[in-house]
Amino acid sequence: MPALVLLGAQWGDEGKGKATDLLGGSVDYVVRYQGGNNAGHTVVVGDQKYALHLLPSGILSPGCTPVIGNGVVVDPAVLLSELSGLDERGVDTSKLLISGNAHLITPYHTTLDKVSERFLGKRKIGTTGRGIGPAYADKINRVGIRVQDLFDESILRQKVEAALDNKNQVLAKLYNRRAIAVEQVVEELLGYADPLSGYVADTTLLLNNAIDQGQVVLFEGGQGTLLDVDHGTYPFVTSSNPTAGGACTGTGVGPTKINRVIGILKAYTTRVGAGPFPTELLDEDGEKLRTIGGERGVTTGRDRRCGWFDAVIARYATRVNGLTDFFLTKLDVLTGWERIPVCVAYEIDGKRVEELPYSQTDFHHAKPIYETLPGWSEDITQAKTFDELPKNAQKYVQALEEMSGAPISAIGVGPGRDETIQINSFL
Ligand code: GDP
Ligand code: IMO
Ligand code: MG
Repeated sequence: MPALVLLGAQWGDEGKGKATDLLGGSVDYVVRYQGGNNAGHTVVVGDQKYALHLLPSGILSPGCTPVIGNGVVVDPAVLLSELSGLDERGVDTSKLLISGNAHLITPYHTTLDKVSERFLGKRKIGTTGRGIGPAYADKINRVGIRVQDLFDESILRQKVEAALDNKNQVLAKLYNRRAIAVEQVVEELLGYADPLSGYVADTTLLLNNAIDQGQVVLFEGGQGTLLDVDHGTYPFVTSSNPTAGGACTGTGVGPTKINRVIGILKAYTTRVGAGPFPTELLDEDGEKLRTIGGERGVTTGRDRRCGWFDAVIARYATRVNGLTDFFLTKLDVLTGWERIPVCVAYEIDGKRVEELPYSQTDFHHAKPIYETLPGWSEDITQAKTFDELPKNAQKYVQALEEMSGAPISAIGVGPGRDETIQINSFL
């Protein structure tokens, strides 16, 4: 089993960090392939809690090499502060490798992210304000700055000049902001060259060689399927491809080398930021899910919007990612509800629809059709096997599996590494 992808099946925050950390001890590499420090992964190891943003969650497993792939956008200031935060807590970060082809998030990207959101007003996306969209826009527009540019001052200066030429016009004339001085940016970026130089590598070559030699590589997605710029609820999405294909373009490893794709799936649904969310609960149940589930963003501290499980979305995630397995998380949060509604299909303009509609207008009109399953009241956080779950919890999992189109191979019953029921091995 040389290569597997682990990704979010919903709108992010499914518990990818915990799942990656769980596998970290059994894999040789954990590779982030897209996104940046918009991600927020909480990992609980024993009595220690870690909040990771840019670093792969495998960094907490001593035997594993963490890699930031070419598809990631790297804010060097955030990276260095995350590294020093972990160093202070005694985590060995020396093995980290960063692709020289990864693009940088600079202060002008963060500024543009914030001002453009303000400019959108009511139509804003609700971004994390971390400069993600503007950095990817520059990459696609071919005016991005890459990690490798830090090591050639003359190229760096030319690229910053090219990038700022147009942006300064936009900042000054459209957003009424002060222009940004080229030299100031160049100087700041050059300051990152030394501290980062030891980490930069040809990660594509390295990962392909590792897979060819039978080493185990885990690709860790940020965000989730419905936040994918191609397959998500556009325009209320992030600016990268968290779906399985992103693992290939974001690392330079071909699809024929990937054996398994695991979708991390919360036992209910959450979303942060704006955009459609058919099963959203604006009542007491929503508040209860938020409180019991601790649904508050790790990155921006915003409350997460909460709703019931949506099987239409789970089926869609199976389809667009070619999922081989699900890891169902946070089942314990549902303990104590007498009955648990699950969305099995949508009603759109009077018609029953089983698959996620491709039209944004239809999706905005989608009303959930619920089936209600009986709940359970027993504490499940100590369960180690499927059989130890109360019968109604077993039935809930089996119903979700039938509706979602791929086997549920693991179940999370708490935030800790050990609070997991493994049904089928991932490796
Ligand atoms: P990520 O962005 O997908 O890594 O997810 P986040 O870390 O943003 O959010 C998931 C939250 O749920 C974190 O606080 C985890 O510690 C926690 N968590 C993960 N799995 C479980 C689980 O099975 N049960 C409970 N109660 N919490 C979990
Ligand atoms: P993890 O990896 C949940 C959301 C933002 C916003 C939209 C675009 O922790 O699951 P961006 O800053 O990326 O341009 O914002 O995407 N978003 C996330 N929501 N979890 C995340 O990451 C997210 N990363 C971005 O809230 O709606
Ligand atoms: Mg998160």
